[in-house]
Amino acid sequence: MLSFMTSPSSTPESASWLPAATFDNKIALVTGGGTGLGLQISRGLAALGATTVIASRDPNNHSELLAEAEREGWSLEAEVCDVREPKVVQACVDSVIGRHGRIDILVNNAAGNFVCPTERLSPNAWRSVLGIVLDGTFYVSQAVGKTMIQAKGGSILNVVATYAWTGMAGVVHSASAKAGVLAMTKTLAAEWASHGIRVNAIAPGPFESKGAAANLWPNEEVRKGMERAIPMKRFATTDEVAAQCLHLLAPVSDYISGECLVVDGGATLPPPFWEAGKRLKRKAAASE
Ligand code: HXC
Ligand code: NAP
Repeated sequence: MLSFMTSPSSTPESASWLPAATFDNKIALVTGGGTGLGLQISRGLAALGATTVIASRDPNNHSELLAEAEREGWSLEAEVCDVREPKVVQACVDSVIGRHGRIDILVNNAAGNFVCPTERLSPNAWRSVLGIVLDGTFYVSQAVGKTMIQAKGGSILNVVATYAWTGMAGVVHSASAKAGVLAMTKTLAAEWASHGIRVNAIAPGPFESKGAAANLWPNEEVRKGMERAIPMKRFATTDEVAAQCLHLLAPVSDYISGECLVVDGGATLPPPFWEAGKRLKRKAAASE
């Protein structure tokens, strides 16, 4: 787990290993930036100098970070925005551009998810998750991408999940949407590289957040079962995942585009055929 003690107390753990001015003069937009992973990414960006705008549906989800930013002297603003609505997304992006002139960093972090057997999933339930994850990522990326093209540069990070390519029972909507976002990541990276725009993805394994806990591991038994299935036998911390998001957004990653970084404690590796640490015994030959 992350443990860096040398930073000033106001810098979150996920950001403390980067120079204090890493995102100075940058304008960042983080969807779903008021809760869970989005909150940790936004804290890190703001603590390291970016003017950070968090955008999601519920203004109650913005108040914690707005209050912290005021205490810490960070430049942080909030927009009420449902990423499923293209006109609302455009208005949100126009409002940020109106105030700051450009958006250098976009993090498509907003998501919706729940576990439901495919045969019981209603069309509206399917649409609801696809609308947030796939459509939402497209609407925001397109609206922000146009401004990045004009500004001749930018960096986009999409939060996906490893089941985008492994699949996972119970989340056909989210897995299908994240697979689409992964394809979008590589497509936009190829299309926009000539404009100086980098587009990457991060695929975390399970980490604790209110939204995920409520919808994916609603009781301790399920959570423990998930932990047992991870080779490192624990969830990631939100700080560990946010640290890698900041890494992909920082100038040190300026030559990385179209990549997807897996942060899952080895969960997508094949299980071992042989018991770890045990020497294999050869079967004795008949003549021995
Ligand atoms: C079956 C469900 C359901 C459930 C909702 N629906 N929850 N169906 N099982 N548990 C159905 C509803 O009945 C409805 O269909 C349709 O979905 C839309 O529901 P609403 O409640 O009206 O939707 P809305 O208010 O828009 O909320 C969207 C949401 C909600 C996705 C349903 O869960 C949400 O806002 N989530 C945001 C937070 C979140 O999910 N975070 C987790 C991220 S973790 P009908 O047909 O009845 O109208 C993650 C990756 C984890 O993404 C990876 C771990 C390995
Ligand atoms: P979370 O806290 O529930 O985050 C979801 C965020 O999305 C909330 O802030 C929510 O804010 C916002 N959101 C949902 N619908 C929206 C909409 N229509 N428009 C705008 N914003 C919307 O969950 P999290 O676990 O931190 O998830 C963050 C990201 O990590 C997601 O992309 C998720 O898929 C991914 N991920 C999570 C895990 C995990 O184990 N937790 C694993 C792999 C990947 P509002 O309610 O205010 O709109």
